[in-house]
Amino acid sequence: MSTNGESIPEIIGEAAAVRATKPEAAARPAAVALPITVADLEKDPEVRAYIEAGNANLAVIGFTEHGLRHANLVSHIARNVLRRLGYDQREQELAAIAGYLHDIGNAISRYDHSLTGALLARDILRRYGVAPEDIAIVMGAIGSHGDDTQRLGEPVHAVSAALILADKSDVHRSRVQNPDQSKFDQHDRVNYAAVSSFLRVDPGEKSITLELTIDTTIAPVMHYFEIFLPRMVMSVRAAEFLGCTFHININGVELL
Ligand SMILES: [Fe+2]
Ligand SMILES: [Fe+2]
Repeated sequence: MSTNGESIPEIIGEAAAVRATKPEAAARPAAVALPITVADLEKDPEVRAYIEAGNANLAVIGFTEHGLRHANLVSHIARNVLRRLGYDQREQELAAIAGYLHDIGNAISRYDHSLTGALLARDILRRYGVAPEDIAIVMGAIGSHGDDTQRLGEPVHAVSAALILADKSDVHRSRVQNPDQSKFDQHDRVNYAAVSSFLRVDPGEKSITLELTIDTTIAPVMHYFEIFLPRMVMSVRAAEFLGCTFHININGVELL
């Protein structure tokens, strides 16, 4: 499979290798106990209102689901990535928190939702008395998770890398909010074609693999790569940040 004579691994590898990262320079979490868990945020009426309003705003303008389902899933996957790779409890919890809150900026606008979301998260976490260093970690993760307006997210620490990997792996037909298949855009079609998705983290192999099952009668595999090239680049960089390689397996075939 190739585009303009280059293979998919070549295209993604070139795009991902723009600059070297220095994981050892990353900001560190606070030394004091974390006063909340993600479970507190799941019960928080302000958080719920922002996630639901953000999702409603995106449904109106024709985007895929970014509501409580996506928030919960990304939170779980982000935690799982760090747990599987042996990161401590605090970083796991910060990843879960960043995962849950990462799209609240959509309550303000899709544009720059990463940046506005980081600042909304700051207000919420301050309310719970979270230490500034930990708020900074969550803000850095949310602010660096990327958006759909030409800017790629770039991992700035392990929590940020876990969030990127979790967020970009959520491709599934249940995300399509448009009920009319005849009006599907390419994003809808590719998401609708994704029957299952699973992010497999193998600490022994130091590999992270996005395993997708795609109904190719709805969308050919190539459409997935055309639409999600930026996501792939972000995922490659995020996995690298965590000392892992990133792979994509679609319908049992390793394509990256
Ligand atoms: Fe987002
Ligand atoms: Fe997201």
